[in-house]
Parts: sequence; structure tokens; C-alpha cells
Amino acid sequence: MIASDGAGSPPAAQAAASGIHQGPTSYGDPGFSRFVRSVFLASAGYDDTDTDRPIIGVGHSISDFTPCHRDMPGLLDAVCRGVIEAGGLPMAFPTASLGEVFLDPTSMMFRNLLALEVEELVRAQPMDGAVLLGGCDKTVPGHLMGAISAGRPVLEVVAGPMIASRWQGERIGACTDCRRLWAGHRAGDVGETEIRAATGVLAPTGGTCMVMGTASTMAIIVEVLGLAVPGSATAPAPSGDRLRAGTRSGRRIVEMVVEALTPQRILTKSSFINAAVVLGAVGGSTNAVVHLLALAGRAGIELSLSELGDAAASVPVIVDCRPTGAGFLDDLHDAGGVPALLAELAPRLDMEATTALGCSLGASLEGVGGSPAWPSALHSVDDPVSAEPSLVALFGSLAPDGAVLKAGAATPALLSHRGPAVVFDGVEDMQARIDRVDATPGSVLVLRGCGPASAGMPEAGAIPIPRKLAAAGVTDMVRVSDARMSGTAFGTVVLHVAPEGALGPLGLVRDGDLIELDAGARRLDLLVDDSVLERRRLEAAPGDGLRPEPDATRWRTLQSSLITQADRGADIDVERLG
Ligand code: FES
Repeated sequence: MIASDGAGSPPAAQAAASGIHQGPTSYGDPGFSRFVRSVFLASAGYDDTDTDRPIIGVGHSISDFTPCHRDMPGLLDAVCRGVIEAGGLPMAFPTASLGEVFLDPTSMMFRNLLALEVEELVRAQPMDGAVLLGGCDKTVPGHLMGAISAGRPVLEVVAGPMIASRWQGERIGACTDCRRLWAGHRAGDVGETEIRAATGVLAPTGGTCMVMGTASTMAIIVEVLGLAVPGSATAPAPSGDRLRAGTRSGRRIVEMVVEALTPQRILTKSSFINAAVVLGAVGGSTNAVVHLLALAGRAGIELSLSELGDAAASVPVIVDCRPTGAGFLDDLHDAGGVPALLAELAPRLDMEATTALGCSLGASLEGVGGSPAWPSALHSVDDPVSAEPSLVALFGSLAPDGAVLKAGAATPALLSHRGPAVVFDGVEDMQARIDRVDATPGSVLVLRGCGPASAGMPEAGAIPIPRKLAAAGVTDMVRVSDARMSGTAFGTVVLHVAPEGALGPLGLVRDGDLIELDAGARRLDLLVDDSVLERRRLEAAPGDGLRPEPDATRWRTLQSSLITQADRGADIDVERLG
């Protein structure tokens, strides 16, 4: 090594396999590549004492378009402090930030784009391991899909949930109560003044939606999978617990680099089945089904929708959190968080699964217990919040490759139902006609043209109740679509029908056809003769609905041609490139 004034290490003949000089920029002269990298490191104030350490990329998703992440700058500082304390060098970098309610048409359109970005950034930049800071819905699965493919040690640190709010004498929060109040407003029960007042209190702090929506569900699942440190999923965004989770993660990732503990050494079929069991026990978001299937695919693990559905349906709901229960995520944190939840579920889990600590799940739970501050948020399996499965996978003639129903948030009387279809072709058609259609409370509302290839799976599956029925007191109807639904939503809503309408039987449904839902038998059927369906199939133009919009962007066109169906995670299938 050439003596220097302590600035970034000068060039050596060979590229390093780790540290800041791994993966040299290709100038055709490795020595120059190292030299010029040292020049710019010195410019940024780094010297050898800094750059001889393990390099930890800290990818954050701070954006003014993602208010859920508004506390993330402090969390980023906490993570970096932890990395330094453990002897590493944190190097922060931005990833795309997917603010759930600020993206047209849906954040899901960009989850795979984020995954591509993270895979490339984690591989291309000289880091030995990464901590990724996400939270708002698709950031977490997007981060981890990319990180799994990148194959470096990684931890996710979530933004943490908001703290629940208070309004008119009750606790409320985003966004189950956003939907409940808006439905009341549509029905004329919640006036203009009230809805305006509610706007200011539904999301009272920084952090992600504090019900068991997709953000909360994925935060919990990531901890169960072993890609986040134990106890980190549920700490509220504004709390000291959240910052300490960040610091612990910063310290731990440096150890993981030394241990070469990559996602490939953590993730197994058992860890995904454990995650599916927990998904059922928390009454989690249906979106997590798509994300889990995508994550398993990235890890090279065969996991079917049927296996995932069976695992999720094998447990009752034991977490009292909206929309299935009445509480909020900070209640679960005060009940002991994910470790307490896993301890209660232990007999139903594979306790040999590897955690982010490198030890088994069983070992990680030693000592969990004590006297939690708010024990009522976590029930026992013998005294559940709901004995019924929260989430079931359905199969049948209308969904040969499967569909998903959040049974725990459905109306029990509608879980076995037969009714005539009222069909909408796409979100615009549904919005234009929903309040004019001739529907009865027994009708089955069908929405298609929203599948992965057709429209990127917008969260349009919770079709509004037609206004005249809502005004007459109807609060739920059976709804069927190839779209998704927000984890904060509720109702008897069948989602993710595969194949999507443009490719399967959903596209053959006509107004008045009888549809039968039998959640107990895990069935969803179209009660129309095969000969009639065959005639309709021959009349339909092949691939109708998959033609790109005239103004489709390059990404949307590319994704539409390469995306898998929901039962395979709606991920990009590069093998189709041939
Ligand atoms: Fe960000 Fe709900 S809008 S998590």
C-alpha cells in the first residue's frame, strides 16, 4: 500500500472481492478504477480508517410523496449509528419510494420496478451487506425481492406504524376507518362537516397505516421470514423502540456480513409456511399472498397458492387488530409484538427456521414473555379473536388457478352464496355505472380487466356498494375480481382471480350468469354450461384486454408482456425473454 495522507486507499493491482473496492467500474484498467474511486472517496472525506471496514449500504425510501416515511430520516441516522458501533461503514443511498396513495394507477404497478432497481443497486454498488428502510405497502416486498436476487446479507427496517387516533369518543385510524367513514358519507350518514373533520385525525403521526393492512402485515411477515431483527416489526414510528430497532439492525447487519448470512441461507420452504401461518393468525392483508409467492419465487422455493392458503387457514385469528378485530398495531406491540405472537403459535410453526439472528426461531424466543403492557391485543389459540380462518384460497371453474378471500373480514352469511353476476369491464366502466346498475343485495358484482398483465392489479376489488343499495342499508355484497384490495378494506370480496379476465373464464362471464361462492369448500364456480362458455370463448378476440393502452409507458408495456399471474406472485418472468 502506498503511504498517503490517510485519504481513501490508493490503487492496487487486483480488485478486492469485498469492501469499497469490490466491483470496480469498468474503464478497462482496474488500477485506474480503484484510483479514481479513491479520489472521490477522499473528496467525500473518507480515509482508510473508514473504508477498510465492512461496507453497509443503507437504502432508504424518504420522499415527500410518501408521508408514511416522514420519520425515516431519524431512523436512517439510528441504523447508521448501529453500523458504526459494530465496526462497519454505512453508506446511505436512495431507492424508489412508493407512496401508496400517490401513485397512478397503483403502487403495485411499480413494485417490480423497485425490485429491479434494488437488485441492481445492491449488486452494482460496492457494499458487503445492506439495510433497507421501507414501510409503505410495496416498498418492503419490492426491496426484498430485489435483495434476495442480489444475494448479499440484508435486513429490512420498517418505518413502523402510526399511533392510533381519537375522534368523537372512539379510537380510529388509517385506513380501515377512512373506508368506513367514506362508505358512511356515500350512504348519507356522515355529513360534509364530519368528513372534513375526520380528514385531519385519521393519520395523526408519521408511520404506516396502523391497522392490519399490507404495510403492517408485511412488516410482521418479514420478521417471521428472518429478514428483520426480532421485535422490530410493530414498534410505532414515533417511538424510541423504533429507533432502537434501527440501531440494533445496524449492529446486526455487520455481524451478518462476517457470518455470510445471506437470504439464501435463511429462507426455506418452512420459513414461508411459518409466514403463511402467521398471516392467518394476524388476519393479514390478502396482498401479502401475492408478495409471499413472489418472494418465494425469488428465493427459488416452490410454494403454491394452495399450500399457502392451507397454512393460513390452519389457524384462527389471535391478534385483535382492525379490520378483522377492533384494535391497532401499537396494541400488538404493547402485547409483546411478533416474538410474543410466535411464542403463542409455536406448536404450529417450524421452530428450526433460521432467524435474522442466525439462530433458530426456537432459540430466538427463549425468554419471551413476562408482563406485557397491553396483553389483551394478543389472544391465545384456544380463545381466538375469530375462530374462522381469516384468509382462504379458492379454486373452481371461475378461478382454475386460484383466488383469495379475506374470510375474516367478510359477512358470515355471504360466505356461502349464489347470485347473478353484474359485470364491469375495467375500473372506469365500474366507476361510470356502479350507481346506475340494476343490482340487488344478492347480486354478485364482477370486475375484470384489472389483472397483472391488463392493469397491474389496482386495489379496486372492494367494489363500492351501489349507492341506492347503500342508502337502503346494504353494507356488503359478494364481489369478485382479478384486482387486489387494500389490506385495510373489508367485505365479502374475492380477489386475485387467476387467470385474469383477459386470459381465463372470468372474461367469459355475462350479466345474469350465476356465480357460486362456497368459502367452506374453498370453491368459486361459474354455473354456466361448458358448451356456452366454449361458444363465448370462440367469439372473444384472443388476448382482448392485454393490448397495451395507446399511451402506455415503456415500463408498463414491458411489465405487461413479462408479468406472471397472481398465483405466481405477479413477478417479472425473465425466462419469457427467451
Ligand atoms: Fe402508507 Fe397505508 S398509505 S402504509
